Amino acid sequence: MDKIMVEKSPPLKGKVRINGAKNSALPILAASLLGTEDIILEDVPKLKDVEIICEVLASLGAKVEFLDEGVIKINSADINKYQTPYDLMSKMRASFLVMGPLLTRIGKTKTSLPGGCAIGTRPIDLHLKGFRALGATIDVDHGNIGAYAEKLVGDRIYLDFPSVGATENIMMAAVMAEGETIIDNAAMEPEIVDLANFLNKLGADVKGAGTSSIKIKGVKKLGGATHSIIPDRIEAGTFMVAAAITKGDILIENVITSHIKPVIAKLREIGCEVYENEDKVRVIGPKKLKATDIKTLPYPGFPTDMQSQFMALMCVSEGTSVVIETVFENRFMHVDELKRMGADIKIDGRSAIIQGVDSLMAAPVKATDLRAGAALVLAGLVSDGITEIRDIYHIDRGYDRIEDKFIKLGAKIYRV
Ligand code: EPU
Repeated sequence: MDKIMVEKSPPLKGKVRINGAKNSALPILAASLLGTEDIILEDVPKLKDVEIICEVLASLGAKVEFLDEGVIKINSADINKYQTPYDLMSKMRASFLVMGPLLTRIGKTKTSLPGGCAIGTRPIDLHLKGFRALGATIDVDHGNIGAYAEKLVGDRIYLDFPSVGATENIMMAAVMAEGETIIDNAAMEPEIVDLANFLNKLGADVKGAGTSSIKIKGVKKLGGATHSIIPDRIEAGTFMVAAAITKGDILIENVITSHIKPVIAKLREIGCEVYENEDKVRVIGPKKLKATDIKTLPYPGFPTDMQSQFMALMCVSEGTSVVIETVFENRFMHVDELKRMGADIKIDGRSAIIQGVDSLMAAPVKATDLRAGAALVLAGLVSDGITEIRDIYHIDRGYDRIEDKFIKLGAKIYRV
């Protein structure tokens, strides 16, 4: 099993280019099942999760070719299966995103139920509520979930919570439903807008993505397109925190700064200098980091996917910080690991109270989920000694060889 070793590092300095967003690439790859002509996707990040969803597409009969670096060609003209294999499904929850496209394209889909995961139980009731509203019959047996419909008909669907995955799945199912679908209280994440733009390039009629009400007029058929995935705002945020925590100076390239407003605002509150221009952001860490508070919320609020990285920063910021996690019910798994490194954190329900300490100490720790793993890398950069991070397959799911970019910025980090 690979491990990542992180030594206390000098202030990180230099430039880093951000990859395409994992959480845009996954739904867009799933949506590629909808088109009947060639689809070319550019700026696709090279990640384990991307590999898995490509295997899912291939298992359904799509032709998937990896062209140049970051370019994938997909042709789904001849998809001939409607069941996703259990072993692929169990590896990645996002495989569930093929349900909407299969339902509308071939009228049936069956997959194993996505299990719980480290960051919460993550139910799928809202996805199913949407499919039912469009006229699908849902049947659950022996851990499998099937959705069937001779024809889907548009409807008005209110999401009780603006779930990213449910908005995407329902949007994909609705693009070829008869008539009009409106998703109210829809998620507004940039990844939803990217998916809608891609669907429209294929010939769909989706309006309002990026607002809380998305209107989809069904069309008969979708074709092909070339599309570039938007930059990963969470990878960008992770390097911004790296500049802050090491008191360094990093220029982050290929970002859409309007997507990372809460991260910029909070880094400024902590004392960083942040300079933004359209597709670049420069973060200079202060001599002294100040405590701040964050509350995670659906977009445009502070992203839950940046919560653990900010917590690492708060561990070494002067004063008391409070983190309130409102999106997932169990996303504090990194707290015990950070405490092993000398952090002073108390949890009370969905809140964590962090008392800044002067320094952290290296310890053997485990990446309990993807973003928790990133937080441990950040903490390791400012801990005395050598931090050994295990279970790094979680990190590889969302960061393409995370150590390579850090090494270029001067970090002492390596994989063994
Ligand atoms: N929820 C329900 N019912 C549903 C669906 C969701 O109650 O049917 C609840 C969940 O339990 C959770 C909340 O709604 O408490 C938010 O879940 P959401 O559906 O919005 O999340 P997701 O689609 O499963 C995506 C990202 C996550 C990111 C969240 C929130 C992908 C592939 N994953 O997950 O990314 O944290 O949105 O922004 O897009 C990550 O990249 O590390 C990651 C976990």
